[in-house]
Amino acid sequence: MDAITVIRTKRDGGTLTPEQIDWVIDAYTRGTVADEQMSALAMAILLNGMDRAEIARWTAAMIATGERMEFSRLDRPTVDKHSTGGVGDKITLPLAPLVAACGAAVPQLSGRGLGHTGGTLDKLESIPGWRADLDNAEMLDILDRIGAVICAAGPGLAPADRKLYALRDVTGTVESIPLIAASIMSKKIAEGTDSLVLDVKVGSGAFMKNLDDARELAATMVGLGTDHGVRTVALLTDMSVPLGLTAGNALEVRESVEVLAGGGPADVVELTVALAREMLAAAGLPDADPERALADGSAMDVWRRMIAAQGGDPDAPLPTARETHTVTAPTTGTLVGLDAYAVGLAAWRLGAGRARKEDAVQAGAGVQWHARPGDRVTAGAPLLTLHTDAPERFAGALEALEGGAVTIGDPVEGDPGTVGPL
Ligand code: URA
Repeated sequence: MDAITVIRTKRDGGTLTPEQIDWVIDAYTRGTVADEQMSALAMAILLNGMDRAEIARWTAAMIATGERMEFSRLDRPTVDKHSTGGVGDKITLPLAPLVAACGAAVPQLSGRGLGHTGGTLDKLESIPGWRADLDNAEMLDILDRIGAVICAAGPGLAPADRKLYALRDVTGTVESIPLIAASIMSKKIAEGTDSLVLDVKVGSGAFMKNLDDARELAATMVGLGTDHGVRTVALLTDMSVPLGLTAGNALEVRESVEVLAGGGPADVVELTVALAREMLAAAGLPDADPERALADGSAMDVWRRMIAAQGGDPDAPLPTARETHTVTAPTTGTLVGLDAYAVGLAAWRLGAGRARKEDAVQAGAGVQWHARPGDRVTAGAPLLTLHTDAPERFAGALEALEGGAVTIGDPVEGDPGTVGPL
């Protein structure tokens, strides 16, 4: 077997054989197939696709490069959630302790920010002392004692994906439905969860910009999970508008704690409860009541114990950015649109995300919006607050928000609206 034949097969629109897939994934993980060869193959896959059998084999081959976790010693069912990535998507933070408070165990392996989308681990690392890296024994112990753990995937879990994902990120090959589906599901299947709820985001702030692509991604992932014995369901949820009222690391932790305290923005509460219901049903606990667990403080108790178990101080003040800049509404009317991609890009440019994978993120950086679509806004009143430690970043963030990011109009009076610039 050789890499050039495998690349040529896909380049010319052919179907990879199971043997070719097993060989290329294993050889790439061991370093026999070079990065430039794997990037050529990833580009050929992005352009020519893979059929269902190829995707299934590709996923199985990635799982086989590492270990599989085992939760059978736990006395409750395991269920996990995965979001395909969005702006202001802090749902994992309140959701994992909430579902644990309702009786399931939640082994939540999470990632870092990617481009304009935020990462759960970057958010939690803004809590003083909290650490993302746990070994398998620590993870199991926290899961057993507390019911929820959010941490980084260890190096032994689908190492082929770890390597391939970093390569795709810098070769323009992220946006391939077969590669995204195999990447996400190889990690989730190797993680060993009994059931899985997928939150497939669709809209400007998501990787899937239209409904057809989001449906195809969801169906592909559900098929992969089901074939591997993981009860898998998917929800398609809107990411044309960012979630909640903040995008940024510590800003989103603060908002998540508000939700756990029984408050928080209505859309974050609604999606958290909807996903909790799906997870509990998938885990065989359809009668559990997530709304009650939010109201009676039991979800907050799990959160506090979960944060403390990973070295974090749940009572410590969260970091704030050194500088803020307020953007005011240019006109009076109804906020009609707030573009998720533009807000995510602005937060990223303010320092909430990374330009290179070795960069550190700023804990306090991000964007806060003071109105959501449908709210009335008044000319001159604060509309957005930008947060950063580095004021030279404001210009780039403001540029991201120009030209249609914010739409103010009055649809009731038939006004088509004022479309940026701010
Ligand atoms: N998240 C992943 O884990 N993999 C992808 O390819 C895209 C999003």
